[in-house]
Amino acid sequence: MTVHPPLEQIPADILAAADYEDRAAQHIPPPTLAWLAGGSGTEQTLRANREAFITVRITPRLLNNFQTASTCQSLCGTSLEHPILLAPVGHQQLLHTEAERAVARAADATGTCMVASTLSSLPLEDVCAATAASKWFQLYWQPRREDTLRLLSRAEAAGYQAIVLTLDTPVQALSRRAHIAGFRLPSDTPPNLAECKPLPQRALAPGQSILLHGMMSEAPDWDDLEWLVTQTRLPVLAKGVSHPADAVRLKTLGVAGQIVSNHGGRSLDGVPASLHCLAAVREAVGGNYPLLLDSGIRSGTDVFKALALGADAVLIGRLQGYALATAGALGVAHMLKLLREELEVCMALAGTPTLSDINPGCLMGD
Ligand SMILES: Cc1cc2nc3c(=O)[nH]c(=O)nc-3n(C[C@H](O)[C@H](O)[C@H](O)COP(=O)(O)O)c2cc1C
Repeated sequence: MTVHPPLEQIPADILAAADYEDRAAQHIPPPTLAWLAGGSGTEQTLRANREAFITVRITPRLLNNFQTASTCQSLCGTSLEHPILLAPVGHQQLLHTEAERAVARAADATGTCMVASTLSSLPLEDVCAATAASKWFQLYWQPRREDTLRLLSRAEAAGYQAIVLTLDTPVQALSRRAHIAGFRLPSDTPPNLAECKPLPQRALAPGQSILLHGMMSEAPDWDDLEWLVTQTRLPVLAKGVSHPADAVRLKTLGVAGQIVSNHGGRSLDGVPASLHCLAAVREAVGGNYPLLLDSGIRSGTDVFKALALGADAVLIGRLQGYALATAGALGVAHMLKLLREELEVCMALAGTPTLSDINPGCLMGD
């Protein structure tokens, strides 16, 4: 199958943000597409994320006045023109030569914020310097605290406005789909981790598990989280929250905001759709506390449903990758523009002029 280079203009047949998914197959080699699209295990959670959005229904209201309509808001000190952020997606050079630099330009052009991954193809300083717009840095905990600290202080010095600490993947395997397609991650260490060192190998006692006693001994725990939030002047958000009790504890320990997420069905397979976890987490943390959602969003009505169930904003993972591979910065900016327009159409038809008008009452009960 021929893989076409990224386009320099938007194809006329892309009319909805979700259209980038089909289109991207022409621009991404099949093994890389399997890595991007796939989920863990038998992909139950990947499917559940999509099904959840389909089962939630909106109840439109009539005749509301839109003179003060707006999609703007501020989250953890970052001003946004609309509630659609770009999720951290590592290794973007696999999708486009301009990688995270292209995504940064797209975020800037569309009034939103990108979250740059620890596993970015480009150094975090280069990504931040690509535009003047606000950016957040996604942090993966490193086995040695000094390496985690170095990443934090580099992110602060570079000018990121918040830290997003991902907690749902202390271990992660390549998906079955990616394995079967023959995908391999780049063998080079991602540039942000070039100076990080592994811990000396821990001798396992007979009968101990490499995973549970080896790898998991390097994963962060609650004490590490408590320490981490005291080590930076930036707000720290936790990504990968599903359980209300975790959400309450994170909030109590000083976490400034949270992302309800199951890593787009790429972490533990068999967990519920993130959309279905959202209302309980919102109830647990209370109002007036930044809560975002990702996992499964493919349209503006999906964004609306997430906001109605308690999210202040959402993040976009795979659609970002599909649009990047299809048409670089232009593609990602266009995808975001379409999502925003889809959200605005939904707000107009549902009768909700502002984001704060979108609440559970906008949804139909079962
Ligand atoms: C190819 C790929 C790479 C990802 N890399 C990261 C990463 O480096 N850090 C992280 O916190 N999440 C990562 N994620 C998860 C996303 O941030 C996000 O949680 C997920 O993609 C949202 O689901 P969606 O793809 O259905 O929008 C990655 C997701 C994909 C698809």
